[in-house]
Amino acid sequence: MNKILSSTPANLRLTKTAHLVKYSDLNHHGTLFAGKMSEWLVETSFIAAARFLGRPEDIVCIQVHGIKFTKPARRGDLVEIQTQVGHVGKKSITVIAKAYLNTNVEVVIDCSATFVSVDQNGHSYEHGLKLPQDYIDSHSDICEKAERIYNKK
Ligand SMILES: CC(C)(COP(=O)(O)OP(=O)(O)OC[C@H]1O[C@@H](n2cnc3c(N)ncnc32)[C@H](O)[C@@H]1OP(=O)(O)O)[C@@H](O)C(=O)NCCC(=O)NCCS
Repeated sequence: MNKILSSTPANLRLTKTAHLVKYSDLNHHGTLFAGKMSEWLVETSFIAAARFLGRPEDIVCIQVHGIKFTKPARRGDLVEIQTQVGHVGKKSITVIAKAYLNTNVEVVIDCSATFVSVDQNGHSYEHGLKLPQDYIDSHSDICEKAERIYNKK
């Protein structure tokens, strides 16, 4: 019988989006425009934070900590973005994002962003959520990276 080493609750599952690079997504060099890629990254990160909180309407982005592009994407390429919650504070949720090109296994873009829980008046509130310890243990690379980012702010 298979032994389950750790379980990831549904609200913490990897969030993935895939995008076809089209003419309208290109910059003047003919490669994917950074603004378009940033939109996809922030949107996919937002979805990860919103799924975790369970109330998308209560999530706003407070900071995009950085985006690093290491390879250009070209028309016709497929960009897959994977995001995962890495750190949870009292009011904040920090998400780590990475992106892959086509069938390549190497990460070509990485990014992180922090979101805050806000009420209908836009005031932050304590969401009362925590990451389960087995999730932290089984995603230590993401969680350690997100914690360093959170502590640096
Ligand atoms: C989000 C907002 C309500 C927070 O304001 P606030 O309540 O005064 O902020 P606080 O200083 O209490 O911090 C709230 C949380 O954000 C975290 N935070 C603050 N500055 C941060 C930064 N630069 N990076 C990451 N997290 C940060 C805090 O640590 C806190 O989280 P914690 O309780 O888990 O530690 C306010 O900044 C805002 O309205 N920003 C605009 C949001 C927006 O419009 N986003 C869309 C951009 S287009």
